[in-house]
Amino acid sequence: MRRKEAISVLGGLFPGARPRSGSCRRAAPAVDSTSTPPQRYLCSKSTPISLVSSRENGSRPSAQAFRISRSKTRLFASSSTTMDSSAAQNGKPGGAWIGSAGAGGIDLRSDTMTTPTASMLAAIQSCSLLDDVFQEDPTTLDLEAHCAALAGKEAGLFVLSGTMGNQLALRSLLTQPPHGVVCDYRSHIVKYEAGGVSSLTGASVKAVVPSNGIYLTLEDIKANVYLDDDVHTCPTRVISLENTLNGMIMPLYEVRRISKFARENGLKLHCDGARLWEAVASGAGSLTDFAACFDTVSLCFSKGLGAPIGSVLVGDKIVIKHARWVRKSIGGGLRQSGVVTAAARVAVDETFGKGPNGEGGLLHKTHSLAKQIAQMWTDLGGKLAHPVHTNMVWLDLDDAKCSPDRIHELGTEEGLKLYYNRLVIHYQIYQNREAVVPKLERIFRAIMDEKSKNSAGFEGTNGERSMYQSQ
Ligand SMILES: Cc1ncc(COP(=O)(O)O)c(C=O)c1O
Repeated sequence: MRRKEAISVLGGLFPGARPRSGSCRRAAPAVDSTSTPPQRYLCSKSTPISLVSSRENGSRPSAQAFRISRSKTRLFASSSTTMDSSAAQNGKPGGAWIGSAGAGGIDLRSDTMTTPTASMLAAIQSCSLLDDVFQEDPTTLDLEAHCAALAGKEAGLFVLSGTMGNQLALRSLLTQPPHGVVCDYRSHIVKYEAGGVSSLTGASVKAVVPSNGIYLTLEDIKANVYLDDDVHTCPTRVISLENTLNGMIMPLYEVRRISKFARENGLKLHCDGARLWEAVASGAGSLTDFAACFDTVSLCFSKGLGAPIGSVLVGDKIVIKHARWVRKSIGGGLRQSGVVTAAARVAVDETFGKGPNGEGGLLHKTHSLAKQIAQMWTDLGGKLAHPVHTNMVWLDLDDAKCSPDRIHELGTEEGLKLYYNRLVIHYQIYQNREAVVPKLERIFRAIMDEKSKNSAGFEGTNGERSMYQSQ
């Protein structure tokens, strides 16, 4: 039996499974996670915090009043004071499928902290369970085809992580040394992928500082590529762009300029689009518009979209076939992958939206909230380390004379998880905003109150701290 026929037969055997076309029907989720769930929020058992508690006198509450001890922390439904014990089971089997009422609703460290929803669980329960190394699993094949169609590319490959997507792309676009990759010096591929580019490809990486401080321009690229055949140089073969980077957008017109240059000079172009969804949701261009500029695009399901696991690499059939081969070689060939791809499909449909512009999705509202939170900080006298384009707010903590440990501590007192100077306003924070925003306001006020006291002798962090460094 040919593969296509096999899939349609299997679609009949598995009523919840979708055939490969992007328009096919999916089993309706039992729970609609797009609607705001009943308001629940973290508060101390003994000191419930009112839901919208913008404090009238503006003074800072005593740390004692709002200190939330981990052992006493409970979740209450806003409509009553009844304790919701299932919600308190964050992280424990059985009680964690509660969307923004769970761990994700109080965690601003990253959008990777979004937790899977009840509708993802429903999709997992009705997914197909066939072998993906044999390319027989309809749920997985359908997700790959759907993402490829959204991006206007020929093919897609489900991978376990954003790192795997980037590394497979680079390994597939590069051939043999000497070869080089040019990218932004802050790129995930250079800073946070365990040196994979050099160990997996042998390429040398040219990490470039963008002259405008925000994104690389064609002029930055031209000044850093090696195009000639001088035997002393390492010839550039791939340009790798990240969009968004630190939540900031590389505009479509700049991507197009770089793409034209790359094509004219025989260079391949990869996009680390872990958060390209965010750029699209902000109105910067459609997924298809951006993807048309690149040979390969890696898109993450497990960041702002909220799936538990996975990314997809899209590109033309030949490069994706090669990437599938490389994926197998590093142990990324999956068997019954439907259990993860079913959740990823819900993440795309419900959080990003149904079409290439993120139609009906949830992300753009998070961007407005991020801007409001940034405004709240600057209104109190704070400065920002980067402009807010999408879902990330970067506080200038050095200017505020606040140490990473102190903001972490203030967050813990309020029952929020904060990390250093980055606040990520993902969709579960948006859904829990009535609880989170007043807490942030109190934290911001506390930082500003302490600023003058800390002025003398504050050393600052000067320089970057790894996103993954522990507190
Ligand atoms: C821009 C970017 N690319 C790639 C990755 C890697 O994703 P993963 O953690 O799934 O490997 C991350 C992770 O946060 C990221 O921020």
